[in-house]
Amino acid sequence: MNSFQIPTAIHFGTGALDWLKTLKCRHVFVVADPFVVKSGAITQITGRLEAAGVPSTIFSEVIPDPPIETVAAGVKALLATEADVMVAIGGGSALDTAKLIREFARPMRSGNTLLRLVAIPTTSGTGSEVTSFAIVTDTAARNKVTLVDDSLLPQDAILDVELVKTVPPALVADTGLDVFTHAMEALVSPQHNDFTDALAQKAIELVGAYLLRSYLDAGDLRARTKMHSASCLAGMAFNAASLGLNHGIAHTLGGHFHIPHGRANAIVLPQVIAFNAGLEPGMATSALQSTHAVRAYVACARLLGLQSMCAATAVRALIQWVGFMRHEMKVPASVSETGKCSEAEYRAAVPEMADAALKDRCTAGNPRPATHDQVVAILNALW
Ligand SMILES: NC(=O)c1ccc[n+]([C@@H]2O[C@H](COP(=O)([O-])OP(=O)(O)OC[C@H]3O[C@@H](n4cnc5c(N)ncnc54)[C@H](O)[C@@H]3O)[C@@H](O)[C@H]2O)c1
Ligand SMILES: [Fe+2]
Repeated sequence: MNSFQIPTAIHFGTGALDWLKTLKCRHVFVVADPFVVKSGAITQITGRLEAAGVPSTIFSEVIPDPPIETVAAGVKALLATEADVMVAIGGGSALDTAKLIREFARPMRSGNTLLRLVAIPTTSGTGSEVTSFAIVTDTAARNKVTLVDDSLLPQDAILDVELVKTVPPALVADTGLDVFTHAMEALVSPQHNDFTDALAQKAIELVGAYLLRSYLDAGDLRARTKMHSASCLAGMAFNAASLGLNHGIAHTLGGHFHIPHGRANAIVLPQVIAFNAGLEPGMATSALQSTHAVRAYVACARLLGLQSMCAATAVRALIQWVGFMRHEMKVPASVSETGKCSEAEYRAAVPEMADAALKDRCTAGNPRPATHDQVVAILNALW
């Protein structure tokens, strides 16, 4: 037997933030991306809470790829308040920080009860507002750790396009390719089902139609709105179907060299698509096995409007589409192009990164099991 549910209530569209005025609570602990405070967007939250007569405390020490030390500081700040609801506003880093603060503070609060969490994304990328995942950086180990538990799920998510109008093109590109990777990994996952396929396929269709538009024109509100929906849909898809090796490798790249998460995924994608499909360089098109992953990649290519004669050319066209999108949006195509490390540093870290990728929670969801040598080969090809 299988079960499928989407426990998070999603409030979206014009005026969605007004939903905050309906919150019945004593005090709200707001975990905010520093950008939200600096830009003044925080008043869109605090103003509405004030209108409802609810006081709030703001914690804005969030940093990208949040380290465990930030979570610890947040737990301390939360426990010093009377808060009975949490609001998280920002990119995936702010949302994940809030999820972990809530979780780790739980046993220290009287009654051991889980606070209600309202998640408000300001990037269209992670889908963290609807997932039971949280990613934290272990700075000493230079690694990102994926935590997965239903208790991490927010109770409410608010999608308001006003908050993503300020996202600069490079961040649109990185986060948009993260959405694409979420949807792709959900589609090829052995744990996929009709419900997760429907969510992932819609997300891919929206990315195909709107990501480049959103990158090229910040004023294209239709494109920005559709990418915000795509991010949430892909989040719901992978939350139920799981992620895969692409994220396992991207997490260790992020932990080691601070390559932004979506960018790391985009660098890895062509290698992992080819690996999962069993596509070897120069192989005869007729030699490709018709696995679930191959059929899912072919379906994905069709959703992007790529015409192909056979499965092998469809998978190759999909890989080329990733290359095209990276090129058009000036996303680095390799680790060397990110400028984050020297070749010697990178090569020296490869064996350790392969270990970390294989241990990552996401990798277990990959359709094709990978050996240490195969992950080393993929990592070497990324330079
Ligand atoms: N929990 C999940 O399900 C899940 C899924 C995928 C990724 N992640 C994690 O999420 C993190 C990445 O999140 P992200 O890609 O959203 O980036 P992010 O949250 O790290 O933010 C990146 C930068 O963008 C800025 N920013 C955020 N919103 C902005 C806006 N509207 N305008 C201008 N600047 C803005 C932030 O201040 C920050 O400097 C990584 O740690 C990744 O591992 C979590
Ligand atoms: Fe991701």
